[in-house]
Amino acid sequence: MSLSQPHGGTLINRWNPGFQYEGITETVELDEIASSDLDLIGTGAYSPLSGFLTEVDYNSVVTTMRLSTGVPWTIPITLPTTEVNAQGIAVGKFVKLVRDGVVYGVLEVSDIFTPDKEKEAKLVYQTTDREHPGVKKLFERPNVYLGGTITLIQRRPLNEFSEYLYDPIETRGKFLELGWETVVGFQTRNPVHRAHEYIQKTALEIVDGLFLNPLVGETKSDDIPADVRLESYEVLLEKYYAKEHVFLGVFTAAMRYAGPREAVFHAMVRKNFGCTHFIVGRDHAGVGNYYGTYDAQKIFSNFTLGELGITLLFFEHSFYCNKCGNMATPKTCPHDASHHVILSGTKVREMLRKGEQLPSTFSRPEVIEVLIAGMQKEEIHS
Ligand code: ADX
Repeated sequence: MSLSQPHGGTLINRWNPGFQYEGITETVELDEIASSDLDLIGTGAYSPLSGFLTEVDYNSVVTTMRLSTGVPWTIPITLPTTEVNAQGIAVGKFVKLVRDGVVYGVLEVSDIFTPDKEKEAKLVYQTTDREHPGVKKLFERPNVYLGGTITLIQRRPLNEFSEYLYDPIETRGKFLELGWETVVGFQTRNPVHRAHEYIQKTALEIVDGLFLNPLVGETKSDDIPADVRLESYEVLLEKYYAKEHVFLGVFTAAMRYAGPREAVFHAMVRKNFGCTHFIVGRDHAGVGNYYGTYDAQKIFSNFTLGELGITLLFFEHSFYCNKCGNMATPKTCPHDASHHVILSGTKVREMLRKGEQLPSTFSRPEVIEVLIAGMQKEEIHS
């Protein structure tokens, strides 16, 4: 066995810092999501995508969860621009992709189209409720989509995360260097609490390495900031993980909160980073009560194992059971809920902001310490 093949068979590389764009006059302003997507397309994390979705691929992804080639792809990766800006853009021409005056790439425009966002919301997010953070974002973004192949010219500045930034080609190299043939990917937008640690380590029992791949792209404002989380991962890895079996690297994509569809997307991307296995626990990439607890696991039955090309490791809701005296799930614990230590994300954030201690059965004391300090620093700055 060896590392996973890239999704679609080939690791895309659209990064060309020497690309000459001086003659190109039209520009598209990138927002935070498009800016991270451009970088991830260019470096192959979104293989087989080589650009922003064309109209045919967009419609195919929205309605069938596959690209027009039939390859599974569940999240529309789109480049929205305003109607006014689109008027100056023509199919067959190049446009510069710009943010804060910096040219990050170019798009060879093959499609200019107006999406049906109600349909996109309904099918991708399973709701058109504007309270849903992903749906809210979808409607906030401009109304015309541009499709076509991109060239990535300039990498995104990552500041405090740059030390943990690895492109798929690099993670693949690292995993091989570490002697790993099987690697489990773990997506998270949260601090690693005991439940996360439990499922990661349970998975680690059957593979060579854990790729801890926290998302540090755009998240909703009440999620714990990425810089604070990163510090908590460092402390945790230092104290509680076997160094030769864990590798920390950031995932720079924006969070969509699309639950089941995002779980498939997350798995495909981690496959591109070389992972052979991927963890999906309870309510993966979910928010509020929009998705059923295990919907993000069930969705994978729409695809064959061959199409997915990565082994999914599904975990039930895990918690510390005071009566068992260990971490468990409904599969391994016979006791009722009154013995289980379960705190909602909202409750956790509220306690941290107040500087209250969380039980060590919920989160490691070293992690809590970092989170309390980090949250209080954020409060002072905001
Ligand atoms: S996510 O939006 O990135 O999925 P989170 O960081 O909370 O959110 O979850 C990371 C992964 O751990 C997901 O696969 C999720 O399903 C899983 N997970 C989180 N908490 C639990 C839990 N208590 N029991 C089982 N799986 C969990």
